[in-house]
Amino acid sequence: MVWVYDIIRSEKSGAILTIFIADATDQIAGDTPSSARLALRSRARNALWIGISFCTALGLAAAVLAAAGADDQGVHLALLATARLAFLLFWPAYVGSALASLFGPTFEPLRRQAREFGLAFAAALFVHLGLVAWLCLIGDVPPVRTFIVFGAAALCVCLLTLFSIARFQQFLGARAWSLLRFGGMNYVACAFADDFLRNKLAGDIRHALFYWPFMALAMIGPILRAAAIIQALRSSMRKPNSGLGGSNHLRRAREQSTVR
Ligand code: HEM
Repeated sequence: MVWVYDIIRSEKSGAILTIFIADATDQIAGDTPSSARLALRSRARNALWIGISFCTALGLAAAVLAAAGADDQGVHLALLATARLAFLLFWPAYVGSALASLFGPTFEPLRRQAREFGLAFAAALFVHLGLVAWLCLIGDVPPVRTFIVFGAAALCVCLLTLFSIARFQQFLGARAWSLLRFGGMNYVACAFADDFLRNKLAGDIRHALFYWPFMALAMIGPILRAAAIIQALRSSMRKPNSGLGGSNHLRRAREQSTVR
């Protein structure tokens, strides 16, 4: 029955992979209750996102190294390429919820898949960090500032990945998790913006194509999130008995805000 539902759903969305996940997890789950089956299916889906993203990043890095050579210049190019792939996975995780709050149900799937995009981003970043290790091994060690600024961003990604697991999240508590998610995601967004925006306005058209779309997304992301927060605050102010200016009002706005 669940399997049939998934086929119908996948026909609608075109997501054929859902069928395979449903089939595989149902076979593993056997007669287990539906909540266990759902958990298994969610784990299988996450593993699929992580696997596909990791292999794509690895393939991309290998292709760049094969074309440009495995010397420091080639590794730098592979770093630029994997950073862009990672950013394209990070961005939907960063703005999915804000887009759904601002523009309605069209973006609801993006909000629902935010965790999967986040995990896929972490997997692609893993390849980026592997290239950094390679760069160090061949003697082209990045500046200390890079280690501090981007090392902290990588740490944020590790913490966000770890505490996105329900068991660890319970241990952390809802408030600390909200803070970590807000601070961590915004710090990573700033790290990307810092790299894409720094001294990047010079150069020819090829250079522009390589930077400008990423610069635009890096700027639009925080704007969307800020707009969603403002919208939630305004709608909470419009509600009667909202206690304007009081802490209740801020609390309600926070509760209403679905920005993650
Ligand atoms: C979440 C963590 C990270 C993010 C968001 C990130 C982001 C980026 C971005 C956007 C680029 C492309 C820069 C450009 O196009 O000019 C890049 C390249 C690079 N990253 Fe990362 N990075 C992260 C982690 C790290 C770490 C931990 C290191 C090393 C300590 C590192 C070292 C480098 C290097 C050496 C390059 C190549 C720069 C060049 O050739 O101009 N990254 N990174």
